[in-house]
Parts: sequence; C-alpha cells; structure tokens
Amino acid sequence: MRVSINKIKEMKAKGEKITMLTAYDYVTAKLIDEAGIPMILVGDSLGMVVLGYESTIPVTIEEMLHHTRAVVRGTSNALIIGDMPFMTYHLSDEQAMQNAARFIQEAGTQAIKLEGGVTVADKVKRIVDCGIPVMGHIGLTPQSINQIGGYKIQGKTPEVAASMLDDARALEQAGAFTVVLETVPTALATLITEKISIPTIGIGAGAGCDGQVQIINDIMGSYTGYIPKHAKQYAKLVDIMSNAISQYHEEVKAGKFPTDANSFTMDESILEELKDK
Ligand code: KIV
Repeated sequence: MRVSINKIKEMKAKGEKITMLTAYDYVTAKLIDEAGIPMILVGDSLGMVVLGYESTIPVTIEEMLHHTRAVVRGTSNALIIGDMPFMTYHLSDEQAMQNAARFIQEAGTQAIKLEGGVTVADKVKRIVDCGIPVMGHIGLTPQSINQIGGYKIQGKTPEVAASMLDDARALEQAGAFTVVLETVPTALATLITEKISIPTIGIGAGAGCDGQVQIINDIMGSYTGYIPKHAKQYAKLVDIMSNAISQYHEEVKAGKFPTDANSFTMDESILEELKDK
C-alpha cells in the first residue's frame, strides 16, 4: 500500500519531517523507494537535468508521462506526484482536469503538482473535486522564468512576501494537500509554514518547512549544468562516470577489454566442422 496524502498531512501534525526527491527513471525511483522516502516527484526539471533543455518550458506532457510511467514501475511504497508541464493547465478548467487525469490514469501517479497560487486556485479546486490530490508550488516557479527574469530568490519585498502568503492560503483553501516553496527566504517560508495547515515542502526555503525536496541529480552530482546554492552534493557521480567511460575507451583501444571473463565459449568440435566447410 502506497503512502497516502493523509499520512503526509499527519506527518505535519506530528512534527515529523517529510522527505521528497525527484526521479525520472525506473532504477533511481526504485532506490529512492527502497530508502523509505515517502514522496517522489517526477518534476518537469526532467527537461533540464535529463533531456538537456535550457529551461522547463519545452517539456511536453508526453515526455512527462513517459518518464512518470518508469518511476511508477520502479516503486511500490512512495506517493508519486506527476508535474504538469507549462501550459497544460492554464487554458481552461477542462484542460487542467483532463491533463491531471492523464497522470493518474495513463501514468499511475497518486497526485499531480502545478505551479502558481491565487491565479490557479480555481483549477486546483476543480482538479481536487475530481478526486485528484494536488501539490501546489509557489515562490520561484520555473515555468514563469521569462516573466520572473531569472532564477532568483522570491519574497524579499513586502508586496511579494504578502502575495506569497496569499498564494499559500489560496492553495490551502482550494484543497491542495501540500505546497512546495522554492527559493524563498527561510524566515518567510517558516512563517508560511506556521500559518497554513497543509505541509510545506521547501527547496531553497530553509529548515523551517515541514519537508524538503531536492532534485536527485543535484544531490548525486550527476548533472553537469548549474548547481543551485540550496543543493548539497552527497556524491559526485559525474566524476565516477567520466572515469569509467574513459577507462572503457582506453581498454577497448588497447585490446584489454573484453577478456575471457566477459566472453563465451563453445564446443570446439562444432568450430572444427565449420572450418572444413
Ligand atoms: O520540477 C521539479 O523538479 C520541481 C521541484 C524543484 C520542486 O518542481
């Protein structure tokens, strides 16, 4: 039985910290699931850390569903959240509900995430009313990067800080079960966490949030692009991979790979017969 949204809400009530990681493939999702992490987000960060796009904007719903299915196949315990990509929920309530349903029906997730607060609250309510749990996402919202003007900290002015609290409350009222706070000053994220009843999941929002999310490639050191300040590298997989690739290349060129240990034998007599043909 997978972790339920009630379990996640209970964790806030009990003061238990909530861990979430992103995943985009079967093997990584399986490892995260086996580690007991209760929530996995198939983020549209997929576009940048796996597919090589410059931002999350080009990511399509088909790409998201393809990777989400792999994550679902690799897991049996975690609550899986599918991230709705750019412009797949803005056009109308119908569009938002239909695309949210695709994650649940076609990819097997238990919830979806979308970006925005007050402006998408009506969509959140309609999706929740269909029986689909929604995770909100406010602060730095990468799908609006062209509007925001860069990946910078959000909520430092009185106006933006106040509107972020309004956004969090609007999502809570619309029925969201959690809200991601991205790149927000610690004090503001802590205040929002105290003021709303649903769990806040921070990324670059300090230790005062109810939970934390990180992009798996950032903490594994398996991304060659920009690593944000909020990410701690627990490993440096790019170095390990790069060494292994070079060693393989060298050994093939030098005739050192494959050895007998990587090869297969056959009955010599069959070969002898073939030689006479
Ligand atoms: O796409 C993503 O991975 C996200 C996280 C940064 C929360 O939205």
